[in-house]
Amino acid sequence: MKQISSTAIIELALDLASSLNSRDRFDRLLDTVRKAIACDAVALLSFHGDVLKPIALQGLSRDTLGRRFYIEEHPRFLALCQSKSPIRFAADSPLPDPYDGLLIDRAGDLPVHSCMGLPLYYDDNLLGLLTIDSLTPHDFEDIEVRTLEVISAISAATLNTAFLLEQLESRAAHSQRVVAELTEEAWKRDGGELIGDSSIMSQLKQELDIVASSDFNILIYGETGVGKELVARTLHQKSLRQHGPMVYVNCAALPDNLIESELFGHVKGAFTGADRNRAGKFSLADGGTLFLDEIGELPLGAQSKILRAIQNNEIQPVGQDNVEKVNVRIVAATNRDLKEEVGEGRFRADLYHRLSVYPIRVPKLSERVGDVQLLSGYFVEQTRRKLGISQLKITEQAIVHLSQYNWPGNVRELEHVISRATLKARARQRGKAIIAIEQSDCGSLVAVGSNQRLTSKSKEVSTEESVASTNLPLKEETENFQRQLISRVLKEEDSNWAAAARRLSTDRANLNRIAKRLNIKVVKSVI
Ligand SMILES: Nc1ncnc2c1ncn2[C@@H]1O[C@H](COP(=O)(O)OP(=O)(O)OP(=O)(O)O)[C@@H](O)[C@H]1O
Ligand SMILES: [Mg+2]
Repeated sequence: MKQISSTAIIELALDLASSLNSRDRFDRLLDTVRKAIACDAVALLSFHGDVLKPIALQGLSRDTLGRRFYIEEHPRFLALCQSKSPIRFAADSPLPDPYDGLLIDRAGDLPVHSCMGLPLYYDDNLLGLLTIDSLTPHDFEDIEVRTLEVISAISAATLNTAFLLEQLESRAAHSQRVVAELTEEAWKRDGGELIGDSSIMSQLKQELDIVASSDFNILIYGETGVGKELVARTLHQKSLRQHGPMVYVNCAALPDNLIESELFGHVKGAFTGADRNRAGKFSLADGGTLFLDEIGELPLGAQSKILRAIQNNEIQPVGQDNVEKVNVRIVAATNRDLKEEVGEGRFRADLYHRLSVYPIRVPKLSERVGDVQLLSGYFVEQTRRKLGISQLKITEQAIVHLSQYNWPGNVRELEHVISRATLKARARQRGKAIIAIEQSDCGSLVAVGSNQRLTSKSKEVSTEESVASTNLPLKEETENFQRQLISRVLKEEDSNWAAAARRLSTDRANLNRIAKRLNIKVVKSVI
């Protein structure tokens, strides 16, 4: 009686446990079967309801892999699929052989030969078949039942592992696609474009173009509402990781006791309430960008853990013994002065240096000459769409009014002012085909002092207070503002009056006239 050797089993078990791909696993399985049983052909087929699909074979022509065997049409396969144990077909069995003409060593009809099949069950489910053929009759008659049982069990386990891995891989690939899809979707939905063509914004955009494709960690800083998050998203979109995920973490909103688990994940049972394994933000961002917003709010303890993750590119989920490799690019944002925070001992110097390989400052809105107009147009259109208004415009006076304010709440404040103004304008002009946002809809955005410190009603400061705090009449205040604005634009445009006029949305002659009235020195234009 022939027996499968224990060495062959151990070898196979080791092979299967090693990290082979499915194809290699199947080949090793068939090698082992051939070592244990002398035969001319062996094939592994997976079961799909009414069809058997060859997934690995030896001794049969390669085109067999492309064939799909409808079980009903092949009595031998049908018998095997209905059996719980191996079947050795009689040498003179009248049942047609599905491999007729497919054996490599023999063309045409098969001569009388040995043919055997093993149904492969796992957890009572039929996963497939293993078929073994020999051109020598009666070859399989003296193989021990136990040997066939062992081969069946190993083959079924191999198939099962392969199916599970396939499922996991396709689920992982699917999740990755979903995350990338959602990231892009959010980007499109939020508009995503960095509006502004002031020289300071053009400089920022150039910087983003340069640094996006690198894998440097980036620290974005600037006042509240300047667009730091939008800049972070722009960086991701322009980077080589654009098709990977961008994962957002608001460091200010992380509860102290959950920071580690949120960032690095945890395993089931790691702490009370951890009823399943959970991936952390670092793992979710693998292959993409991790955006650490409000990084300045992170407690010192968490800072050192993030530093370790960044330094070693690895994380350790809470309750797990081993570490996992991750490949993430960190983009962090803050409205604090992190250098100062380092000086005061509230932020780790080493983490600061790691993060700020390339610091990017997002300028205040008041520094972006001419951009209030563009941003207003952008938000007017956005609000029109959101509210389903067919035509919405903003008057010239309203724009001038908005341009004279210095926006302590920056772009976000402007966005809110436009939203509120639209609601007011719509209420005033209900039923009109074109709704126009007037200066009065924008509320009182009043200048205070010649340094353009301005306040708005939205900041709960009354107009009366603002006016009281300045000793200059409105006309002089306005002229002061205009003088400063025009001088600054001229300086930024290298005294190119045509360009300055374009930026200020007026014509050159008019700009010259205003400049003369305001005693701004008129230098001859280059163009
Ligand atoms: N240049 C810009 N073009 C178009 N929209 C902008 C621009 N800058 C900012 N925004 C919009 O203004 C709003 C505020 O921007 P964002 O949230 O990015 O600011 P932030 O600097 O992160 O603010 P905070 O410090 O308060 O978190 C968002 O709706 C954003 O889309
Ligand atoms: Mg933000």
